[in-house]
Amino acid sequence: MPLLGVNIDHIATLRQQRREGDPDPVAAALLCQKAGAHSIVAHLREDRRHIQDEDVRRLKKVLKIPFNLEMSIAPEIVGIACRLKPAQATLVPERRQELTTEGGLDVIRGGRRLQNTCCRLKDEGIVVSLFIDPDPRQIDAAVSLGVGAIEIHTGAYAQAKTVHSRRKEREKIVRMTAYGCQRGLVVNAGHGLKYHDVRPIARISGMHELNIGHSIVSRAAFVGLERAVREMKALVK
Ligand code: PXP
Repeated sequence: MPLLGVNIDHIATLRQQRREGDPDPVAAALLCQKAGAHSIVAHLREDRRHIQDEDVRRLKKVLKIPFNLEMSIAPEIVGIACRLKPAQATLVPERRQELTTEGGLDVIRGGRRLQNTCCRLKDEGIVVSLFIDPDPRQIDAAVSLGVGAIEIHTGAYAQAKTVHSRRKEREKIVRMTAYGCQRGLVVNAGHGLKYHDVRPIARISGMHELNIGHSIVSRAAFVGLERAVREMKALVK
């Protein structure tokens, strides 16, 4: 069974709507930990649209399970990661205008800056994972950078419109997982996975961890809404 990493960015998205304390992503992370999550993922974006610097400091302090900091290679963010020393750093491409991370990192053309970032993070004892599309050339490039892990982008699988295209996308992930393992990498996957499509990915041999956020936070709103209304109604009464 692969491990489950829970991404809590969208708890912070909701909080940032009001810029007050609620809902607190750190309290959410502790609940995820209690519910059996194997790690917590949070993306400290350059524009700070959801997770804030103080959140990552608190997460590092209170979590008993590994904290996986998702991040770009912007120098400011790399500096924060080096001081924070999360268990893992997952490097992703970041564009200001995007709603969420859109594609995998181009490790082949990542150049000196990506290489230096990986070295700096590894020197701090941080496991480095590269978020990549299921492409063997990207895996080869990741191996040549000496990182310990990759995360295969499952977006194309999750968004496939037909059974045939979904099967094709899954096959790619199956092949890439086997290839990554064969090349000595820890292979994780994530992005866009939902309750109805996660199982075929969870069954892939060699898959180490799945990182899932939006669908869990979305479902939490619904499974918790009834109780939340009842509690408020009791108070109003
Ligand atoms: N993995 C990576 C690298 C991501 O960028 C994201 C989105 O922040 C996720 C996993 C989780 O994706 P989702 O929120 O769609 O489950």
